[in-house]
Amino acid sequence: MAAATVPSLKIAVLHYQPRGEEVDPVVTHVTDALKELGHTTVTIGVHDIVFDLLKAIEDAKPDLVFNVCETFADDYRLEVNIAALMELARVNFTGSGTAGLLLAQDKILTKQLLEYHEVNTPNFLTFDGEAFEAFGRLTFPLIVKPARTDASLGIGKHSVVKDWDELTRRVRDIRKTFNDEALAEEFIDGREVYVGVIGTPTRPEILPIVELNWGDWDASVPRVSDREVKFGAMTDTSPYLVMAENIGPDLQARIERSALLAFRALKIRDYARVDFRISNKTGEPFVLEVNPNPYLEKESELAMGAEERGISYTQLIGRIVESAAIRHQLKVRPEKPTTGETPGVEAKDRSRAETSGS
Ligand SMILES: Nc1ncnc2c1ncn2[C@@H]1O[C@H](COP(=O)(O)OP(=O)(O)O)[C@@H](O)[C@H]1O
Ligand SMILES: [Mg+2]
Repeated sequence: MAAATVPSLKIAVLHYQPRGEEVDPVVTHVTDALKELGHTTVTIGVHDIVFDLLKAIEDAKPDLVFNVCETFADDYRLEVNIAALMELARVNFTGSGTAGLLLAQDKILTKQLLEYHEVNTPNFLTFDGEAFEAFGRLTFPLIVKPARTDASLGIGKHSVVKDWDELTRRVRDIRKTFNDEALAEEFIDGREVYVGVIGTPTRPEILPIVELNWGDWDASVPRVSDREVKFGAMTDTSPYLVMAENIGPDLQARIERSALLAFRALKIRDYARVDFRISNKTGEPFVLEVNPNPYLEKESELAMGAEERGISYTQLIGRIVESAAIRHQLKVRPEKPTTGETPGVEAKDRSRAETSGS
């Protein structure tokens, strides 16, 4: 795909910054990439004071905010409110807006939408505190999760239940601990793969498939990517990410089609990662969830998939900026610049900055 020309922009990298904690490496990775692409950068860390966030944006007057903020005030469910706030303040930002973040955050809503689009997801049962509602025929074991979880919060080997008694206990625990609806899904025993999608809904690119290799996982314990797998210290026996091999063309096509339909159905913008399980029993792929704001660090699944496609990390960040810049009409030129012009410098779109504060 011919690269569009994005003018040199002032870009604010917006990230979650709990007080007293170190800055997440993703902030440096994204900032360095943006600089390499010729943009000017500032970073804005937000914890729990919304006025500070608005003030920082107002002071910086960025052309674009690169949004890697996944939490607000220690509550990952407020990730969507950050996008809502930027929409209200008419700030241009990368990644999904309120709609995409909200739809994908709710795993039940996601499954209902995917069902409509005939994308395979595990049969499931919901419990909203009043009644169970089942979708499809269910066979134990099931995995029970909060409807709106992230980063495996509330998910572990204890989430896998083999009968109604265990199920009821988990559902109650989720209501108590997370004050959330519970989602119970058929536990799909099989390979776990991740698929990155980048670009606009009309011109998306599906990245090569990344797989979780389970390392020396104890065979008697259900394979669940819990917080230890995701964030624990790596040892020689830990699970690790690899490029998926031995995925036949039919399976690959099904996975790619599901990822694309999910991207569109959930109104995702610029980039996302779709998590799958491939059933050992039937060989079918099942979408587990869609991440509209996936971790974008250099070693992330998305970066690995991009690298395999020949898209360097810097180019990946550039592609995200490009997709957002097109949406926000930041004077992106679809063709290569004609010779003699300094790419983009004159083209800075400062209209937001000029109208703000009035
Ligand atoms: N239906 C399922 N079958 C098998 N494993 C599952 C299923 N749902 C979740 N898991 C396991 O739990 C992990 C976290 O679940 P996921 O729905 O992706 O939540 P999160 O938003 O916390 O990442 C998955 O990566 C997978 O290992
Ligand atoms: Mg996940």
